[in-house]
Amino acid sequence: MNNLTIDNIREQVIGIDRKVPLLDGRVVQYINLDNAATTPTLRPVFDKVNEFLHWYSSVERGAGFKSRLSTLMYNRAHEIVGDFVGANQDEYTVIFTKNTTESINKLAHRIDFSKNDIVLRSIMEHHSNDLPWRMNANVEYININPHGGLDLDHLDQLIAKFSHRIRLIAISGASNVTGYLNPIHEIAKKAHSIGAEIFVDAAQLAPHRDIEMKPLDDPSHIDYLALSAHKMYAPYGTGVLVGRRDTFLKGDPDSVGGGTIELVTEDEVRWADLPEKEEAGTPNAVGAVALAEAILCMQQIGMEEIAAHEARLSAYLLRKLKKIDGISIYGDTDPENTANRLGVIPFAVEGMPHQLLAAILAYEGGIGVRNGCFCAHPYVLKLLHVSSSRIEAYKDEVEHGSHEGLPGLIRISFGCYNEEPEVDALIEHLERAVRGDYQGEYVQDRHTGEFAPKGLTQDLGQYFSL
Ligand SMILES: Cc1ncc(COP(=O)(O)O)c(C=O)c1O
Repeated sequence: MNNLTIDNIREQVIGIDRKVPLLDGRVVQYINLDNAATTPTLRPVFDKVNEFLHWYSSVERGAGFKSRLSTLMYNRAHEIVGDFVGANQDEYTVIFTKNTTESINKLAHRIDFSKNDIVLRSIMEHHSNDLPWRMNANVEYININPHGGLDLDHLDQLIAKFSHRIRLIAISGASNVTGYLNPIHEIAKKAHSIGAEIFVDAAQLAPHRDIEMKPLDDPSHIDYLALSAHKMYAPYGTGVLVGRRDTFLKGDPDSVGGGTIELVTEDEVRWADLPEKEEAGTPNAVGAVALAEAILCMQQIGMEEIAAHEARLSAYLLRKLKKIDGISIYGDTDPENTANRLGVIPFAVEGMPHQLLAAILAYEGGIGVRNGCFCAHPYVLKLLHVSSSRIEAYKDEVEHGSHEGLPGLIRISFGCYNEEPEVDALIEHLERAVRGDYQGEYVQDRHTGEFAPKGLTQDLGQYFSL
């Protein structure tokens, strides 16, 4: 690893110099403003993976030198992740999964819910922190306030109403739609005061902030937490579930087979120790090494420096966005308050479908943003004040194969390597799009709802093929 700083990290981003074709035939350097979805790879991660592949062999299952080395590194990766989220190894286990979604599904299966147990989750959750609970427990939503932030008074009301029936509060550390940061330790205290536990979906939080799960005897500790490596500059197929050991020591794993056992006879199974018990099948050691290296890189840059840089960019963007007529920004719009939220900024342009605007930015600016509902339909529909009759109409349209009219927003999300000239380019293209000054004649695909310039064919295989 070189000496990484917030000022030189951009040079260390794989693919940062890739040029992409525009509608008018020019090629320009791609601008990625969709880091909340997934991030590019850092060069040291790429290099470490390539170096590891020379030594790679089966993990936990071989006396060979390479197996022992691979096992050592896989175990070391567990330790690095545990340290990163402030989870001590005596009380917590670090389980590698595929991604945050798999981690949450695993947890939802592993908690032994009884018939009356309730899981509280909020309206602002990503579907991955909503649907697994719906399928495994009774659920209640914590409301949002008029600005889209978590309504803590409503949480208190739910706690007073359901009290000891509440088994778990499942809450995002930060929203993937508005970038709001939730007061996870304050919520943890509330959960623990009624004998419940807390799960934090840290998919968005982990790439941008220090996390401290704290010892279990601290009332503000976090019982369970999930994150995804592909949002942390290490897209090699790894996710993490960190959780209290006592939960996972109890009962059977949700997924069973090779790797999970200590002994199997024809009629008996003895489970392995943690985390192997919960990591069925051959583990993704390459992904684990990649995530560990990405964490070391982020720590070298400094989580505070990352947060401060992204806050500056967010303030810069908010100030410029506010000057464009016809743009409505959602969530916290205050450029002075960007240190207290993530660099995830959603907005809409009056009279212009989000799918069309995203297409114009892509085809005419070489800019990648995300549009739609960001896997958080209940939240976005609430932010947009979509009426229940309109939602019924959408259901009908979707039923008939049309996604043309689906509501949504445009989302800008920063990584630690983005910089101001990229915001300038975005603003320039937005200003043009808003005043109707764009070149293409865009047509919408009824099925997907996406827009593309009429008659344009792009040979993607010319850029990369298999
Ligand atoms: C807040 C949040 N939770 C969960 C997820 C799901 O993550 P993954 O797709 O890596 O499982 C995402 C992905 O965008 C997210 O933003």
